[in-house]
Amino acid sequence: MLSAVERKIEQFIADLNDKEVVALYAKLPSGKRLRAKLILKIAGSSLAVVKTAAIVEMIHAASLLHDDVIDDAYTRRSKPSLNALYGNKTAIMLGDILYSKGFLELNNISPDVAKIVSNAVVQLSLGELKDVSLSKAFNLDKEIYLEMIYQKTASLMEASAGVAAILAGKDKDAYMIYGRNLGIAFQMIDDILDITMDAKTLGKPALHDFEEGKTTLPYIYLYEALDREDALKLKSLHGKRLSNDEALWIKAQMQKHHSIEKAFDEAKILAEEAIRLMQERGEDALRDIALAMIEREF
Ligand code: FPP
Ligand code: MG
Repeated sequence: MLSAVERKIEQFIADLNDKEVVALYAKLPSGKRLRAKLILKIAGSSLAVVKTAAIVEMIHAASLLHDDVIDDAYTRRSKPSLNALYGNKTAIMLGDILYSKGFLELNNISPDVAKIVSNAVVQLSLGELKDVSLSKAFNLDKEIYLEMIYQKTASLMEASAGVAAILAGKDKDAYMIYGRNLGIAFQMIDDILDITMDAKTLGKPALHDFEEGKTTLPYIYLYEALDREDALKLKSLHGKRLSNDEALWIKAQMQKHHSIEKAFDEAKILAEEAIRLMQERGEDALRDIALAMIEREF
């Protein structure tokens, strides 16, 4: 019933009575709609559920519009980003419009749902700020990285699963743990793909995170495994445009020290807990979403 969510978003946007906004929204690729999928799989497709899924996807789309401005990203899902097409000002304002219309509609669901989603957006924003601040230095603290990705990515998935459980009268806590674990594992894998996939498949330049100053889990593990000289070399490459040779050196070192496997194993542990929680409840579709995330090669 994802199409019902798409139609609801279109309706919310049509309510705004602004042709420019309708045209700009049409330029956004819709993406995987993972958060909406979670909500529908947990709570079915009543009107309140479809509206909640639409609101969460509008907030998520808003956060990506802002994130692409913050990250100077010119592609999103293999297409030019909105900031690349129309500039930062337009991208920021479309983000603000989607975000505030989402919040307006959130008032019509329930105070509990509104509270959980609003809290997640606070976390999302704190996480994004942390991501920006961390990329100014060579962060080697794994706990700080984990907290940042929880806030930046997992908080909205955790909230999506939680509000869906509330709407469905299910056990909120278990579903929130599921969403949280799935979200953290998802971001860890997204960070791994930035290293392992080529630019064409990725739809954005490879090793972009490191060039942007982001030391994700595989870099933290690699640094820990390198001898002093190579560790210093890795540090010297942080936050700068990499030559082909430098990029190949990083990838070869990661292969040698199994940094990708180590990072993937962490994502796997979290996904496995999510799988177990859903298996116990007979939630096969939700279990399979977590399974699909880890059943892949890097
Ligand atoms: C993508 O991270 C970014 C996020 C998941 C969160 C962005 C959050 C904000 C900009 C703050 C909230 C703002 C509003 C309007 C709700 P990434 O850059 O690691 O991933 P990417 O590869 O998809 O760009
Ligand atoms: Mg980004």
